[in-house]
Amino acid sequence: MKFSRIASTGGYLPEKILTNADLERMVDTTDAWIRERTGIEKRHVALDGQTTVDLAEQAARQALADGGFSPGDIDLIVFATTTPDRVFPSCACLLQQRLDIHGCAAFDIQAVCTGFVYALSVADKFIRTGAARRALVIGAETLSRIVDWSDRSTCVLFGDGAGAVVLEASDEAGILSSHLHADGQYESLLTVPAGVSDHPERLRAGDAFIEMKGNEVFKMAVNTLGRIVDETLDASGLDKSAIDWLVPHQANTRIIAATARKLDLPMERVVVTVDRHGNTSAASIPLALDVAVRDGRIRRGDMLLMEAFGGGFTWGSVLVRF
Ligand code: UT7
Repeated sequence: MKFSRIASTGGYLPEKILTNADLERMVDTTDAWIRERTGIEKRHVALDGQTTVDLAEQAARQALADGGFSPGDIDLIVFATTTPDRVFPSCACLLQQRLDIHGCAAFDIQAVCTGFVYALSVADKFIRTGAARRALVIGAETLSRIVDWSDRSTCVLFGDGAGAVVLEASDEAGILSSHLHADGQYESLLTVPAGVSDHPERLRAGDAFIEMKGNEVFKMAVNTLGRIVDETLDASGLDKSAIDWLVPHQANTRIIAATARKLDLPMERVVVTVDRHGNTSAASIPLALDVAVRDGRIRRGDMLLMEAFGGGFTWGSVLVRF
């Protein structure tokens, strides 16, 4: 068993929905501006007390059920999140306990919007080396907790949710290649500039929110994602025509459309959920994957390109034979 493949998927969105009309009543914005600049129409937000692990548990249970797995079949949990329930234990350990799994390795990954791509790549390497046989890989967020709901330049963008896959050892290639990058010199363009150790007083005062220089991030995202498309295709020796589906991080339809153009892929071959989900950071790719698998668009054997760009900056891609 030299490879890993995605055996099943799951997703969960909290019930509460915030529409653009709701946001018009909260900040100086319009439904037209949000749609035109981002493509977003609505987003889901967690209820008070509903945590990242609560969302992840639903997505994980769905992925397990869909693959016909029981929790005991899992021997690795990799959990991507920027909004963990606690400082510690990790969300992976909290989820492990909820699922009544004991003893296997479980850890969180923090790569902001690229988190799921990082998590999938890491889990793939565990499986390829024989260190694990069946991994639960999660992306889950309650970004609404780090959004300044009085800042119109950011609060219209983000949403909450969770997505999961079960990745298992296989004789045939599922994950064909993964490409991970980061460059910390851009940390100030997209950040929550406070934490446990840096400006803890801001955290304690409830003043730790996402700050973003949107336009600069936008330009970097478009250029960088264009480059990672080339890198991914070059590494695999595939022509862009081999890609059946682009499953991108969902930050902005204009960024997604630019990557699709780079691949000469019509928008009908791109999974877009940002209109309904907003930007759910690490959750966005597994949620989009789950939507398109569940509605029958993505089928076994299809070639998928997943890509993401986010705070750090971090960016990456995974090429998958589904
Ligand atoms: O997921 C991680 C990576 N994140 C991203 O990829 C996000 C990347 N950035 C973006 O998606 C876009 O830059 C935004 C959607 C955030 C902003 O779109 P933009 O076209 O770059 O707008 P802008 O920031 O240049 O602002 C244009 C104008 C400004 O007004 P002035 O200075 O031209 O008078 C803003 O004040 O739009 C104004 N504005 C708004 N107006 C109405 C900013 N936010 C809003 C708003 N409603 N919500």
